[in-house]
Amino acid sequence: MNNSFLKDTLQSLSQNPKVLNSKYFYDAAGDHIFQEIMEMEEYYLPKCELEIIKEKTNEIASQLGEGTIDVIELGAGDGSKTVHMLSNLLEMGKKVHYIPLDISANVLKINCDLVQSKLPSLDIEAIAGDYFDTMKALKLRKNPKLVLFLGSNIGNFKDERAIEFIKLIKSHMNSNDKLLIGADLKKNPKTILAAYNDKEGITKRFNLNLLSRMNRELGANFDITKFDHYPFYDPSTGICSSYIVSLEKQRVDIFDRTILFEKNECIHTEVSQKYSLQDLEDISKAAGFGSFTPYLDHKEWYCLGLMA
Ligand code: TRP
Repeated sequence: MNNSFLKDTLQSLSQNPKVLNSKYFYDAAGDHIFQEIMEMEEYYLPKCELEIIKEKTNEIASQLGEGTIDVIELGAGDGSKTVHMLSNLLEMGKKVHYIPLDISANVLKINCDLVQSKLPSLDIEAIAGDYFDTMKALKLRKNPKLVLFLGSNIGNFKDERAIEFIKLIKSHMNSNDKLLIGADLKKNPKTILAAYNDKEGITKRFNLNLLSRMNRELGANFDITKFDHYPFYDPSTGICSSYIVSLEKQRVDIFDRTILFEKNECIHTEVSQKYSLQDLEDISKAAGFGSFTPYLDHKEWYCLGLMA
């Protein structure tokens, strides 16, 4: 039995309103559904990010010093985008070590296999675990670092916690290290909502996998057909929220506890913050960086921000 999953889950489902920690999306089944999300027409984020990586790595690299660079990626995922950046850096004659960190050991294996097969000479050292633990590995590295935090994962931290998290990353960096953050930009609200509300229901499956995972790992008895996925985007704050809605009044057993759901009661599962360039510059400054350079895709939907 996964104890911290059980403890966190019971605690967050006893809160009013109910919440669940989004880090639990990513078990093997969740990783798989997330790969499907990344390929969805509506989920524009990875396509925009990949375009910037392909078009702008040379410009970004010109800001990095000479000598070997440690490219450390927080929440690395499958590496399918990063591999393009790494190959550009190698083509430019840079010496690179790649250190992918991810909560999912399963996805890290996919990452290493993919990156190593495309770049056989690259030195890779994967570390599995929660960001907050694995980040400590940054301090031990001697080479100048380019820290990557892509996929708009920063948007999954609420307000002040995003700044706190960047400050935490910064506290593990040396003065000439650089941080490259992927951030989704504010845009037509319908475009954003569609990315979290696809017609095929892939996102719904992803969100509800949190409940299936409790059935698998915690012996819970959620009837998945009695819950729905509800995404909501507020263009005035830039917050996109994902909820799970209970379609009827029901009781669910999780391990030795019973959780009650009212009809239409919601569980908040994820915040995906969208930013203006000014928001990002303010965050960079508030976290203590002296400079912020944005790199955008041609639609200006997404930003890779270099903080130094
Ligand atoms: N972190 C991703 C994002 O905010 C993950 C994600 C995509 C997600 N679709 C989702 C999380 C739907 C919860 C629900 O874009």
